[in-house]
Amino acid sequence: MSTTQQIQTTSPIGRRTPRVDGSLKVTGEAQYTSDFHFPGMLYAVPVEATVANGRVLKLDTAAAEKMPGVRAIFHRENIGKIFRSVPEPGFEGICEERRPPFEDDVVRYYGQYLALAVADTFETAKAAADAVRVTYEKEKPNVATELQSDDDPEAVLATSEVILATFGPQNRLESERGDAKAAFADAPIKIDQTYVTPAETHNPIELHATTAMWESPNNLTLYDSTQGVVNLRSVLAQMFGLPEENVRVISKFLGSGFGGKLFPWTHCALAAAAARQLSKPVKLVLSRKMMFQAVGHRARTQQRVQLGAARDGKLVSLQHDYVYDRSMLDYHHEDCGEATAYQYSVPNLRVTFGRAKRNIGATADMRGPGAVPGLYATESAMNELAYELKIDPVKLRVINEPKIDEGLGLPFSSRHLLECFELGTEKFGWSTRTPEVGSMKRNGLTLGWGMAGCSWIAARFLAEASVQLRDDGTARVACATQDIGTGTYTILAQLASQKTGVPLDKVEVALGDTSLPPGPLSGGSMVTGSVAPAVFAAADNAIASLLNIAAMTPGSPFEKRPPTDLAFENGRVFVKVEGAARGVPFADLLRRLNLRVVNGNGRSETTFGNPRPKFSTRSFGCHFVEVTWQPEMARLRVSRVVTVMDGGRIVNPLAGRNQIEGAVVMGIGMALLEHTTYDPQNGAPINSSLADYVMAVNADHPPIEVYFLDFPDKKINEVGARGIGEIGLAGFAAAVTDAVHHATGVRVRELPIKIEDLLV
Ligand code: MOS
Repeated sequence: MSTTQQIQTTSPIGRRTPRVDGSLKVTGEAQYTSDFHFPGMLYAVPVEATVANGRVLKLDTAAAEKMPGVRAIFHRENIGKIFRSVPEPGFEGICEERRPPFEDDVVRYYGQYLALAVADTFETAKAAADAVRVTYEKEKPNVATELQSDDDPEAVLATSEVILATFGPQNRLESERGDAKAAFADAPIKIDQTYVTPAETHNPIELHATTAMWESPNNLTLYDSTQGVVNLRSVLAQMFGLPEENVRVISKFLGSGFGGKLFPWTHCALAAAAARQLSKPVKLVLSRKMMFQAVGHRARTQQRVQLGAARDGKLVSLQHDYVYDRSMLDYHHEDCGEATAYQYSVPNLRVTFGRAKRNIGATADMRGPGAVPGLYATESAMNELAYELKIDPVKLRVINEPKIDEGLGLPFSSRHLLECFELGTEKFGWSTRTPEVGSMKRNGLTLGWGMAGCSWIAARFLAEASVQLRDDGTARVACATQDIGTGTYTILAQLASQKTGVPLDKVEVALGDTSLPPGPLSGGSMVTGSVAPAVFAAADNAIASLLNIAAMTPGSPFEKRPPTDLAFENGRVFVKVEGAARGVPFADLLRRLNLRVVNGNGRSETTFGNPRPKFSTRSFGCHFVEVTWQPEMARLRVSRVVTVMDGGRIVNPLAGRNQIEGAVVMGIGMALLEHTTYDPQNGAPINSSLADYVMAVNADHPPIEVYFLDFPDKKINEVGARGIGEIGLAGFAAAVTDAVHHATGVRVRELPIKIEDLLV
C-alpha cells in the first residue's frame, strides 16, 4: 500500500511555531473586514454629537440629502426598528452600550451617533455627514476628574441577575475577611496611599469596521472586526428580531482589539439597519477620532490601598477601596479587586468599589481589565511597604506568599509565583541592587530597579469544535472563535496536528464564522485553554469514527475486527497487538474505502463563573524593570526588562513570547505615556489621534527578556495550558514606578508618570 501521507514526528504542542497564516498576512492576501467589497456596496459615515450632555432639538438633513451620490441620511425617524439586546447565558447578547442607537434624542456623550449618512462613496458619505446641521439643548457635561461614587446603590441592587453574573458583584463590598479596619488601626507599620490610573483608549491598528448585507429580508450577514462572532450574532438577532440561524457573522482576520472589539458597539447595528432600509450592502469604517468616542475605553480609576504589617513584613490588614468612571449608559464593572483577595496571605481584608457616572462613552474591558489598574495600585503599595520596612520587595512578597487562595478558601490549581521570583531575580541580577535612592549608576546615568508581581484569572469558556480527516492526508479543524492577531490559527493547527499526526502545513483551520461550531470570545486570555479540550474531543471522535468504519466496512484491511482491537497513532490505523509500525495511514484507508472524509465533533464546558469551583485557577508572573534617569536633561528611559510567567503549558512559545512582549510594551505606555484627556467644557476626548495619544513604540522599549516556567496545569485542561494574553501587562506599571522611585526618590501615584513629576 502506498504511503503518500506525511506523518508528524515530534509533538507540535510546545514547539516554537511560526504563524501558519503569516504568509497570508505579509503578502496582503489576508482579508480584514474593511477589505471586503461587494457589488453595489454603499458607504456609511456617522454624524457625531458635538456636545456630551443634552438633547437634540433639530436635525437638519436637507443640504446633505441633496448632495449627488447620497442615498440616505438615516436618523431616529427613518432608520427602522432596532430592538434592545440583553445578555443571555453563555456570554451572548452582550454589548457595553445597552441603549440601541438612535433610540431617543438624549445625548449622553461626545461622539454619540445621531445620524448616518450613506452614499455611493466614502468621500460623499463623509461630506454628507459633515453637512448635517444639529441643534442642541445643551447642559454642562459631567466629566469631573475627582472621582466620587455617585452611583445610586438602589439602582445597582436592582440590576438583573444575568447582568450581575456577567458584569460583576452586586454590592459595593467585593470581598471581606477578618476585621481589616481594626487590624489596620493596631498595625505597627502602615501604608495608606491613593493611586490614580487615567482613562486609556484601545488603539488597535485596525479600525472598527462593519459591512452588513441582507441576503433576504430575514437573513443578515455581517462582516465585522469583532473579538466574538457568536456574541455579535446573538446581539444582532435580538436587535433585528431574527432567529439566530438567520444571522451570520464573519471575522477572518483582526488587526487586534485589546478588548475594544470584545462586545459590539452601536455602529454594527447602524450599518445593518441602513443596509436593510436600502437593500444594499453597507460598509462602515470608523475614523481614528471615532475610536476614542463611542467604542469603549479603560475606565479611569482612583484606588486607596491601606496596608498594615508587622515589623517582620507579615501583612495583617489589606484594604482596597476603589472608584471608577463609567458612562451614563453602561454596566461595565472595572474589577480592580480581581487579584486583591488572593495575591497575598492576609487575615484581615476588605475590598470595596464605587462608580462615578460621567458624560463619556461607555467604558469597556481593555487588556487585563480590572486587574491591570488594580495590581498597579496594590503592587505599588507593596513596594512602598517594602521601602518603609527596609525589606527587599521580593522578600516581602515571599514572606506573604499564601498557601491557598484565601479569598475563595480554595487551593490553587497550580501557583508557582515563588519560582517566578527566583528565576527573575537571577536573570535580572537583582541581588546586586542597593536599595538607597539614586545609589546605582552606570555610564553617568542614574539607575532605578523596580519589580512587581502579577496574576490573571484562568478559566475556560464553552467551546465546540469539529475535526475532519480527509483522504488526501489533510485535516481540517473548525471553531467559531477568532484570531485577533494573537496566533489562534496556529494554535488550532497545532492542537489538531498533535492529535491526528497530520503535519501543520496540511491542517486547514477555519474560524471567525458563526456557521462553524460555536466558539469562545477572544477574551479573558481564555481561547487556547477553552478550545484545546474541544479540539481534542473532536479529534478523538473523528478517530473513533474512523476506527469503527475501518472495522465495519467491507474491503477494509481491518474488516471483521472489533473496533476495540484497533488504535490510531501519528496518523496511522493499526491493530493494537501488531503495533503502529504495521499500520495504515488514514488517507490510504479512506481512499480504499472510497471515503472522502471522516468527521468528529467535540465540546468542552465553561468553567468561567462556576459557582462551586474546586480550585482557584490563575496565571502568575513577575516583572523586573530597570530605568535610566538623566536629571540634567530630565530623560527617563526603560532600559531593561525581565519578565517571568507561570502560564501553565505554553502551546506555542513563539506566539507566547510575542504576547508578553506586546503586553510589556503596552505596560511602558501605561506607565509613561498613555492618557485619554476629556475636555471639561464639551466632554470631547481631546487627544483623539495617534499623534496626540502617545503610545509606546519600538524606540521606547529595550529588548525584553521573557521567560516561561513550565508547570502544565492539568486541572484547567489536558494540555495544561492557561492564558497569557493579558497577564504581561498586569503589575508592570508598578515595577516602573518603583524603579523611578529608586532612581529619583519620587513616588508617582498618578499615571502616567510625567517628566514634571520628576522635576522636584
Ligand atoms: Mo480582553 S480585555 O478580555 O479582550
